[in-house]
Amino acid sequence: MGQFRFLTAGESHGKGLVAVIDGMVAGLPISEDYIAQELKRRQAGYGRSDRMKIEQDKAELISGVRHGLTIGSPISLLIRNRVWEEWQEAMSIDPIRKKTESITTPRPGHADLAGVTKYSVDDIRLILERASARETAARVAVGAVARKFLDEFGISVHSHTVSIGKRRTKQLKSIDWRRVEKSAVRCADARVEKLMMAAIDEARSKGDTLGGVFEVIASGVPVGLGSHVQCDRRLNGQIAQAVMSIPAVKGVEIGAGFAMASIKGSEAQDVIQAASRGGALPWRRLTNNAGGIEGGMSNGEPIVVRAAVKPIATLGKPLSSIDLGTGKKAEAHYERSDICVVPAAGVIGEAVLCIVLTNAMLDKFGGDHLKETLANYKNYISSAYPLNRYAASKRK
Ligand SMILES: Cc1cc2nc3c(=O)[nH]c(=O)nc-3n(C[C@H](O)[C@H](O)[C@H](O)COP(=O)(O)O)c2cc1C
Repeated sequence: MGQFRFLTAGESHGKGLVAVIDGMVAGLPISEDYIAQELKRRQAGYGRSDRMKIEQDKAELISGVRHGLTIGSPISLLIRNRVWEEWQEAMSIDPIRKKTESITTPRPGHADLAGVTKYSVDDIRLILERASARETAARVAVGAVARKFLDEFGISVHSHTVSIGKRRTKQLKSIDWRRVEKSAVRCADARVEKLMMAAIDEARSKGDTLGGVFEVIASGVPVGLGSHVQCDRRLNGQIAQAVMSIPAVKGVEIGAGFAMASIKGSEAQDVIQAASRGGALPWRRLTNNAGGIEGGMSNGEPIVVRAAVKPIATLGKPLSSIDLGTGKKAEAHYERSDICVVPAAGVIGEAVLCIVLTNAMLDKFGGDHLKETLANYKNYISSAYPLNRYAASKRK
């Protein structure tokens, strides 16, 4: 649904990752440096593997942009693999004479076993190369373009780490995003940040890994993105799909989410009150348990999404598996691996939320040039919010 769509291609150790973005309006300022900042944020975080230090990702814009502005044609970008030289034989496009060693011991918790079965191949590398979360670098680059678009409408998207293992932040009234950006684990609370880092150190020393929860918050979203009229137009459904598609994400909740199941209806709903004059809307909500979405549509409150990230499945002390060549017991394959990816997953969560919201904005406001989309948006905000007009006439 909607005009904004994208595809990514590329293997983890291949020549590079590619993304093709279709449907972005003309006239949006965008640069490789802007995209690079987002890629850098994805690569940061305590608990990542050394690979993150080798590869400082940079996306080269190949098409769709001229003199710093999008031109409405598909935007394509390439993120080169900085260590391609080391891999050019193992991942050669052309046939090679020397046979490379096959990986035959599937890791539990990975695409390995289902993948080799489904695609009828006997080397797990053919599966893990694409199943790797390396692909999310391309998604973050696409998300950067989407974020730049949302920025034009005053929509901002942030994320922070709620928990790592058993270390959890309390419900915070307000979040200092500058602090989060400086935190090695993207934690808003200095005390909990230290506990989280210690937990990662402990897991690393034991050859283990840790999961956790990240939260993404989008502010400034206008009322009415998505729709109640068709299931695939429901904004919450689109967000859940996008966030759930991040590798290692095992649960998604919007607003109070799972906690809603155990509270009373009288406590769960966000009471609507008349707002004082001068606000953008003639109402205000006392709480935001709905997480900014009611009936599949944005309701003007911040959109709040949380995701549960499982502990990384590649362990320093590999788990038990079998060798698919012999059918005998063996240790699962070990590939250089992260210990905890919750902070990075949060940045990816921001990117996918930016993509969904961009699609929903273009669905609602349309346009082929940014000026046209902005004009449609301003018209809606100033005169089409029906209750706004109604309230204004009553107050005269
Ligand atoms: C940013 C990021 C980095 C990841 N790095 C690793 C890693 O180094 N090792 C690993 O085993 N899994 C890693 N994962 C998780 C796997 O990609 C994921 O668990 C696996 O592809 C199986 O998919 P599933 O967990 O969604 O079923 C990472 C995930 C993310 C989001």
